[in-house]
Amino acid sequence: MTVMANLDLTEPEPDCASDGVWLTCIECDEQFAPFEEVRYTCDSCDGLLEVRYADLPTWEDFEGQGVWRYSDALPVDSGVSLPEGATPLHDVPRLEDDIGVNRLRVKHEGMNPTGSFKDRGMTLGVKVAQRVGVDRLACASTGNTSAALAAYGARGGMETLVLLPAGKVAAGKVAQASLHGARILEVDGNFDTCLDIVQDMATMGEVYLLNSLNPFRLEGQKTIGLEIMEQFRDEEGDYPDRIVLPVGNAGNTSALYKCFRELVKSGAIEEDDVPKLTGIQAAGAAPMVEAIENGWEATERWEDVETRATAIRIGNPVNAPKALPGIRATGGTAAAVSDEEITRAQRELAEEGVGVEPASAASIAGLRKLREEGVIDSEESVVCLTTGHLLKDPEAAAEAGAEPEPVPGTTEGVLDHLD
Ligand code: F0G
Repeated sequence: MTVMANLDLTEPEPDCASDGVWLTCIECDEQFAPFEEVRYTCDSCDGLLEVRYADLPTWEDFEGQGVWRYSDALPVDSGVSLPEGATPLHDVPRLEDDIGVNRLRVKHEGMNPTGSFKDRGMTLGVKVAQRVGVDRLACASTGNTSAALAAYGARGGMETLVLLPAGKVAAGKVAQASLHGARILEVDGNFDTCLDIVQDMATMGEVYLLNSLNPFRLEGQKTIGLEIMEQFRDEEGDYPDRIVLPVGNAGNTSALYKCFRELVKSGAIEEDDVPKLTGIQAAGAAPMVEAIENGWEATERWEDVETRATAIRIGNPVNAPKALPGIRATGGTAAAVSDEEITRAQRELAEEGVGVEPASAASIAGLRKLREEGVIDSEESVVCLTTGHLLKDPEAAAEAGAEPEPVPGTTEGVLDHLD
């Protein structure tokens, strides 16, 4: 299949636009009004939709902090907010030295309100749901999207439904969805099956879909890129050469690429300033890596997927038509890492005080691997994205960490034990 994605942002504002905002199909160019009807993909060809703008802002237009600092780059002015964004860009000097790059910073998205980057998309997605007038929200999830949807749906006073692959979601994430009051449907199947079902339900009008197929969610996630560019430039004097991130459904990769296209179009950065998007998957769930390595225009669905990094245990990345061109156009690449490499990276980040869940550590594992292979140069400045907090998956953290040591209940006994 040849996919000629329309990603160049050159079209003039169409009549269907509302306040300079509209939706465009990246496959057939058809344009739609943004909020009048509920729509996730193109009516004509089922292609992915992108939010487009008549005016794109530049750095001077942003004020405040967090996701809504960037409201001029978003389709609505405010969100259902907890609030989100403004996450730290950690220094990790020992890792930087050990891996051997000029500069390494870690953008820890686990520091968002529900502990993952999904909050950035949900603050916007739930607001748009209110604007289009729906009341029952749903998603398929490997866990983090469901936690974010449950919290933001609760905040917005809306009903939420989450479809999870039974037995394959980390405990912290299920607990969040549960306490925030989502109805949790444990599906006998993997994430891709859950997404098939929830997409069917959305098409039937049963629920409003808040997976990353929803183009509005990706607009919120775009702010990770805006934040990285501003923080890195202000602290390091220049933009990073490369951004390395874990990939599942490839929503984040798509969102970052859109961020960079818009920054170039607005004149905020030069084409040369765009960081190389580098996507990392677990070896047991790596259809994007397969497509990049083989030069394919589309991914092939993997029916059997397995990895310790359950957040990215995904065989059919629905945003691949947006993300593959992004990786290629920015001069980036994709790589697969083993579960052992992921665990090692999780420990290494923890040794720097940065606690992440396994999927997040894939970015560091991938950087190390690509550096060792010489794909990434020692002169490069790199930002690794860590997408979820350590506490999301307490079991994985305990397995990767040290064993507790039983001691007697006396000071003497404890001191004896330490000797
Ligand atoms: N890292 C974490 C911690 C995630 O939860 C996810 C996706 C990704 C990376 C991959 O991001 O899909 O944009 O490429 N989690 C989704 C979920 C699928 O349901 O929580 P992506």
